Amino acid sequence: MRPAIEVRQATRAYRVGETEVVALRGVSLTLHRGEHLAVVGPSGSGKSTLLQLLGGLDRPTAGSVLVDGRDTATLPQAELARIRNRVIGFVFQGFHLQPRASALDNVALPLVYRGVRRAERHRRAAEMLARVGLADRARHLPGQLSGGEQQRVAVARALVTEPAVLLADEPTGNLDSATGARLLDLLADLNAEHRVALAVVTHDHEVAARARRQIVMRDGRIVSDSSTGSDSDRHSDSGGGGGDSDSTVSDTSRHATAGPDRSGQGRRA
Ligand SMILES: Nc1ncnc2c1ncn2[C@@H]1O[C@H](COP(=O)(O)OP(=O)(O)OP(=O)(O)O)[C@@H](O)[C@H]1O
Ligand SMILES: [Mg+2]
Repeated sequence: MRPAIEVRQATRAYRVGETEVVALRGVSLTLHRGEHLAVVGPSGSGKSTLLQLLGGLDRPTAGSVLVDGRDTATLPQAELARIRNRVIGFVFQGFHLQPRASALDNVALPLVYRGVRRAERHRRAAEMLARVGLADRARHLPGQLSGGEQQRVAVARALVTEPAVLLADEPTGNLDSATGARLLDLLADLNAEHRVALAVVTHDHEVAARARRQIVMRDGRIVSDSSTGSDSDRHSDSGGGGGDSDSTVSDTSRHATAGPDRSGQGRRA
């Protein structure tokens, strides 16, 4: 089966004035339908950059990214946007909600680009808002919502198109543990019932522990990949990296336990 998304030896460098910041250094990663992946690592290690490449929101400066088998570097913008809308739901670290649109209209927005009629858009958006526990906030503007509520609106917007892949950057970052757990249950259901591929960036070890596969990033590289399925996905960067082997998530059991000490990986200071 064709992978949902494939990243091959991707490098992403940013130029800031005279200096070059290399956010990703030759990262390879394959994400299949039905996978549940957590991405952890310290602040600045390249997690958001990798997620943006996976979602076709950004392009690598070297290497390639295939979304649904299509190379994002050579696809015309409009075609890339169409594939993104069809295949991917994206939850941004900063939510990126439209400030002047209600929660309902924010969630319904991706359906506009799909050509779904207004009544149907609203029906589906309302249903999705209810699933994230916000049925009674549909008319609120983002500024009239708490941070955690905005985050759930962002999740509902990402899911309303029933994507094959959900990419989420710290989706529980602003949620209390009970609300966060409910959201994770929803994602786990989608993963189990509809084989939605999940890639979740997180600093939270409990969130990471719920994923079947965990990758650890450091300095723009994947320093550990707990997947057992495919050798080519593992340890895509085995050279250099400064001897981080002691920090690898080596637990390859189906449900990695939130073991006593996985500290040091991706905890915000
Ligand atoms: N647009 C940009 N221009 C220049 N440098 C950038 C840009 N975006 C990210 N970077 C740099 O690339 C590196 C990786 O950033 P990235 O946002 O991927 O980190 P992260 O792992 O998501 O961190 P965090 O956990 O804090 O969200 C950082 O050093 C950052 O400063
Ligand atoms: Mg980030």
